Amino acid sequence: MPTVKFEYGDETFEVTAEIGESVMMAAARNRVPGIDADCGGGCSCATCHVYAPDGAALPAPSDMEKDMLDFADALTDASRLSCQIVVTPSMDGVTYVIPKL
Ligand code: FES
Repeated sequence: MPTVKFEYGDETFEVTAEIGESVMMAAARNRVPGIDADCGGGCSCATCHVYAPDGAALPAPSDMEKDMLDFADALTDASRLSCQIVVTPSMDGVTYVIPKL
């Protein structure tokens, strides 16, 4: 199973993720702070906002994800909704940054 990392302010969290689950679920299951995921992964709250690293080779966001990202604070070109990112084996060692607002 891949190890996925999260940076939140000065803290780094390393979690074991399951293939096929969302990055948001991996964070929530391991009590990573800063990802509230108020809608439970339904792409309707934007409280699971993360910055994906350069070269993460993620599929492009869906139109629904792009629309919901407009509601996220501190949006950048790297912004993604972690509930819409599916964990794959190639994600091992990838670090997602959680905006600390
Ligand atoms: Fe609500 Fe991702 S958990 S949009």
